Amino acid sequence: MASHCFFILLLSLTLFASITDSRNLPRLFYHTKKSSPLSSSPKASQPSPIPPKYTYVCNSERFAELGLDISSFAFCDKSHSYDVRAKDLIDRMTLTEKVTQLGNKAYGVPRLGLPMYEWWSEALHGVSDVGPGTHFNATFPHATSFPTVILTTASFNESLWKAIGEVVSTEARAMYNLGYAGLTYWSPNINVVRDPRWGRITETPGEDPYIVGRYAVNYVKGLQDVAGNVTIEDLNSRPLKVSASCKHYVAYDVDNWLGIDRYHFDARVTEQDMIETFQRPFEMCVKDGDVSSVMCSYNRVNGIPACADHKLLTETIREKWDLHGYIVADCDSIEVMFHGHKWTATEQDAVAQALKAGLDLDCGIYYTNFTEPAVRSGKAREDDVDKALMNLYRVLMRLGFFDGSPAYSSLGIDDVCATTSIELAAEAAKEGIVLLKNNNSVLPLNSNKYKNLAVVGPHANATKVMIGNYALERGGTPCRYVSPIDGLSKLANVNYKMGCANVACKNETFIYAGVEAAKQADATIIFAGIDLSIEAEGLDRTDLLLPGYQTEMILEIANAATTPVVLVIFSAGGVDISFAKNHPNIVSIIWAGFPGAEGGLAIADVIFGHYNPGGRLPITWYEADYVDQLPMTSMPLRPIDKLGYPGRTYKFFNGSTVYPFGYGLSYTNFTYSVKFAERSLDKKLLPRQQCRQMNYMPDKYMPSCQAINVEDDSCDDVIEFGIEVFNAGKHDGSNVVIVYSSPPKGLLKVPIKQVVGFQRVYVLVGKSETVKFSLNVCKSLSLVDEAANTLLPSGEHTITIGDGDGAVSFPVRVNFDF
Ligand SMILES: *[C@@H]1O[C@H](CO)[C@@H](O)[C@H](O)[C@H]1NC(C)=O
Ligand SMILES: *[C@@H]1O[C@H](CO)[C@@H](O)[C@H](O)[C@H]1NC(C)=O
Ligand SMILES: *[C@@H]1O[C@H](CO)[C@@H](O)[C@H](O)[C@H]1NC(C)=O
Ligand SMILES: *[C@@H]1O[C@H](CO)[C@@H](O)[C@H](O)[C@H]1NC(C)=O
Ligand SMILES: *[C@@H]1O[C@H](CO)[C@@H](O)[C@H](O)[C@H]1NC(C)=O
Ligand SMILES: *[C@@H]1O[C@H](CO)[C@@H](O)[C@H](O)[C@H]1NC(C)=O
Ligand SMILES: *[C@@H]1O[C@H](CO)[C@@H](O)[C@H](O)[C@H]1NC(C)=O
Ligand SMILES: *[C@@H]1O[C@H](CO)[C@@H](O)[C@H](O)[C@H]1NC(C)=O
Ligand SMILES: *[C@@H]1O[C@H](CO)[C@@H](O)[C@H](O)[C@H]1NC(C)=O
Repeated sequence: MASHCFFILLLSLTLFASITDSRNLPRLFYHTKKSSPLSSSPKASQPSPIPPKYTYVCNSERFAELGLDISSFAFCDKSHSYDVRAKDLIDRMTLTEKVTQLGNKAYGVPRLGLPMYEWWSEALHGVSDVGPGTHFNATFPHATSFPTVILTTASFNESLWKAIGEVVSTEARAMYNLGYAGLTYWSPNINVVRDPRWGRITETPGEDPYIVGRYAVNYVKGLQDVAGNVTIEDLNSRPLKVSASCKHYVAYDVDNWLGIDRYHFDARVTEQDMIETFQRPFEMCVKDGDVSSVMCSYNRVNGIPACADHKLLTETIREKWDLHGYIVADCDSIEVMFHGHKWTATEQDAVAQALKAGLDLDCGIYYTNFTEPAVRSGKAREDDVDKALMNLYRVLMRLGFFDGSPAYSSLGIDDVCATTSIELAAEAAKEGIVLLKNNNSVLPLNSNKYKNLAVVGPHANATKVMIGNYALERGGTPCRYVSPIDGLSKLANVNYKMGCANVACKNETFIYAGVEAAKQADATIIFAGIDLSIEAEGLDRTDLLLPGYQTEMILEIANAATTPVVLVIFSAGGVDISFAKNHPNIVSIIWAGFPGAEGGLAIADVIFGHYNPGGRLPITWYEADYVDQLPMTSMPLRPIDKLGYPGRTYKFFNGSTVYPFGYGLSYTNFTYSVKFAERSLDKKLLPRQQCRQMNYMPDKYMPSCQAINVEDDSCDDVIEFGIEVFNAGKHDGSNVVIVYSSPPKGLLKVPIKQVVGFQRVYVLVGKSETVKFSLNVCKSLSLVDEAANTLLPSGEHTITIGDGDGAVSFPVRVNFDF
């Protein structure tokens, strides 16, 4: 794997070198950084973490060992509130001591019995060792590695998303108890996929802001919620299992595209897109998930670095959304403000701006190094330092860092890689896998008939590739790997040929052997696609095609084979595989994302029918020429006719696709019917509610009162309906019911449709299940206008269930009563 990493590095450096001033630029992959450079700081004595035998700060034996009298420290007195205790702790510190607590490596204060704490741990799809707060070694080598988020999202199963979070937080707690991990995890990544070239699609829940938001809420609850303590009066003292962080706020989705990188990029974003798309998942994460942290991003937003923007941080996250937690900067963002964006004249000014904006914690060294001089010179206020520390210590107290967490104290090595956890990782892969083509229902293969398989392609023997990024990269490994070959070998005889030397597939050397193997086989399974050398953090794509000779490899096999050929694609972003979609010998196509450590097992189960696939694409798979029509850096979601730019995502792109958002087949056939539905809503207007104008086509009918503003959260009007899902085919299976709303006809520049609800339901052959939905009208039927108002239009809206031929729909009339 070393050569693989080297390749990424080389490629990145090449891109990097083409950027203008590379003098003081931050490293491209922040997670490759060694731990904090402050080790020789004269200001802090050697930091020491809590030894695992104590696990929490306010342990009287620990204080005794340090020669301190615990009873003299009110911050350890449980009879006080967290606020009182946090304030007591902060008031005891000198300014010099305070500033050394503001970096990801918080130095602690030995004279107060406050230990070092490393804030930076990651758990995007399993506990990861990417952050310095977590490590593995020979004594403790494993954690469960789930599929990457884009595939798990494709399950459209909210309880699965939450269940994964629960397993991850249990493993994290076990690791914390033994001294291998922290309590604060900078996951999930909830940036909306605006452009198919983005290198970090694998980390995200796709292109729809509502689905991304629901993923965030469920995963965060799985990580954070403590059973029995979920609903509680004072949210600032609500206990946390571990702390999650929704990132990267905001309008962050360009990593490095043709030399334009996130450390210099200024995202020019309209207020309309901001409310409708970029901020929406973050708002849901904070308001509905009660996340305990948000991470701001590297990029500028309309000229201002996200981490230095008072409106974005304090006014929006903290005040409007009412965050109970801390705001952290993506690693070295303050340095990026100074060196990358050239936003301030000095380091101190950058620190002062960030502090003023409401940034509580710096992943990096700038706060630690430059806050004290900034305060002493009058650029920053010590009050703001104290506020930041309050936000940080409240979270640590809620985590039991000071008092212990009896509910979790017995977790240990046996709670990591539990059989049920490994099974859940396999279940997640099965639920996410998307069947894209199945001509003549050739899949599932019958193992009595298909005994000898040719298994070909650069991903056929994949292991590490399956776990993607933010996984186990510094010594940790998954509980085990089941590669595609391993998985298929359990069910058939496998003749493996690599087809291509690697994903880049620079020549045709290995194709011939693959073709010959296919000629001998009862069926051929080709594993093709991309990996982190093509799409990754710090590396956006420039095309949507398979690399090198992969296409030739697939076509030569398909043309030579006389038995079925199944194509399995590993990728996060879409790949233009129109050639395979239309090829009569390629009977089936499966998208397996990056399916996690159990991926091979899941794929084999799907191919042989032990699992009936039900996943749906959470992103649009555009045709290859889409990327020639608009630059990645053009932020608007709506089409720009005068520049010829098409729209982005299923909401605004009306052209043809390889596979549309929401696409996914099954081995069975489902039909929908509307069981019951409220089809109109009379909304009584309050005297203060003004009628608002919408943007209607000139000659269209317009209602007299076109719309009302529904921004405040007071609206509780709901419409309810039930959808009967009937399994008309020959296999039991799960169906994802996706509900869209579309606005009244005649409105201009509005989404074609938008997801307002979804549920995954299991239905037996010949049976039906009724899925009920209850939609808040002001959330599900509202639109964001050009002035960024959230408006509910009157008139006839349409609710549509499903896509394509099988979709059913019904109108919902909204009337306003005065
Ligand atoms: C921060 O301070 C430490 C100790 O003085 C020094 O070694 C380090 O280079 C400084 N880092 C930056 C980015 O200023
Ligand atoms: C692994 O790390 C733990 C905790 O830091 C330590 O106690 C243990 O000795 C280490 N084991 C090895 C084999 O290095
Ligand atoms: C949703 O995921 C859960 C796992 O948490 C699983 O038990 C359930 O069967 C899934 N639902 C469907 C319909 O597949
Ligand atoms: C958390 O739940 C436990 C068990 O139900 C209960 O004893 C405890 O008081 C709760 N803590 C808080 C802060 O509500
Ligand atoms: C698959 O890859 C592993 C290394 O990850 C290697 O040990 C094994 O020999 C390979 N299997 C085959 C059949 O080539
Ligand atoms: C084909 O590529 C492989 C691996 O990249 C390399 O070892 C081999 O020499 C190449 N063969 C030719 C004919 O270029
Ligand atoms: C599906 O199979 C039929 C019969 O083998 C073939 O004629 C047709 O071209 C295939 N369609 C596609 C899209 O592969
Ligand atoms: C599709 O969108 C483009 C770009 O805005 C627009 O010019 C075209 O008229 C639309 N086509 C249809 C059929 O709506
Ligand atoms: C599903 O229904 C369609 C149309 O009725 C039919 O062509 C197809 O064969 C059916 N597929 C399955 C898997 O039953």
